[in-house]
Amino acid sequence: MSKKIRKAVFPVGGLGTRFLPATKAMPKEMLPVVDKPLIQYAVEEARAAGIEDLIFVTGRGKATIEDHFDHSYELESVLSERNKKGLLQELQASVPKPGSIAYIRQQEPLGLGHAVWCAKRLVGDEPFAVILADDLILADTPCLAQMVEAREKVGGGNMLAVMEVPHEHTSRYGILSLGEEKGNLVTINGLVEKPAPKDAPSNMAVIGRYILEPEIFALLETQQRGAGNEIQLTDALSAMLGDIPFHGMKFEGTRYDCGDKIGFLEANIAFALNRADMRDDILAIVKKIAATL
Ligand code: G1P
Repeated sequence: MSKKIRKAVFPVGGLGTRFLPATKAMPKEMLPVVDKPLIQYAVEEARAAGIEDLIFVTGRGKATIEDHFDHSYELESVLSERNKKGLLQELQASVPKPGSIAYIRQQEPLGLGHAVWCAKRLVGDEPFAVILADDLILADTPCLAQMVEAREKVGGGNMLAVMEVPHEHTSRYGILSLGEEKGNLVTINGLVEKPAPKDAPSNMAVIGRYILEPEIFALLETQQRGAGNEIQLTDALSAMLGDIPFHGMKFEGTRYDCGDKIGFLEANIAFALNRADMRDDILAIVKKIAATL
């Protein structure tokens, strides 16, 4: 049986340049979809997959993320005085258990591969998950839980969330060279980071959910800079192919690219429509606006 996935790494050191000016003084991971910051969705997805330890790879200007996952005693006492029990419970439940959350700084923005490598000592010698908070996925069963289950069935190894993207968008993603497809799992023959459409081996892209074997750290340690002059996770993964089981999982659900303004607005509408307390109002507003166009 494969080892249980107990730890998740959240790379949150990125500058969020695609979302300026909103992200000048606020981490992009704190942008709210409806009423919750992106990073809280990511943490809830991790918990739903049985993750016990949360490891944030952070950077300068990201302190509000730490505050978000801590108690706010002032706020809690005001809510308690005003008898807002539901909200109080919700806030308290979102604070991880003492000792289960750790922060480590990525001191230079050297890329996703480098960010993951920074978590090496905190992860240790066990398989772990990586969640990119700006890939927000609306699904009945949260995406990481789907991956944990699929990985157990194949007996372990690396597992990446994948989906088809428009061919003209391949330069935004890690792209697979596809092997055999079995149900929702694909074996991977190759991986390339952000290829131009003319060079892309397929239009099957890696989305920001990974379950990785700890051998990745040794590869990241010696990894040369790749696309965008950054140390790429995709390149280190590519070097692991052939050595261990390695699958892409076509997840069930809809993914929103919340690092992008349009994707973020789309996510807000979709998540609001998915909420029973908002659906009718939002639908009426969207219809009203559309009718004036
Ligand atoms: C990262 C990865 C890329 C992956 C993407 C998914 O890119 O490097 O392989 O396809 O996330 O969102 P980024 O969006 O950080 O540039």
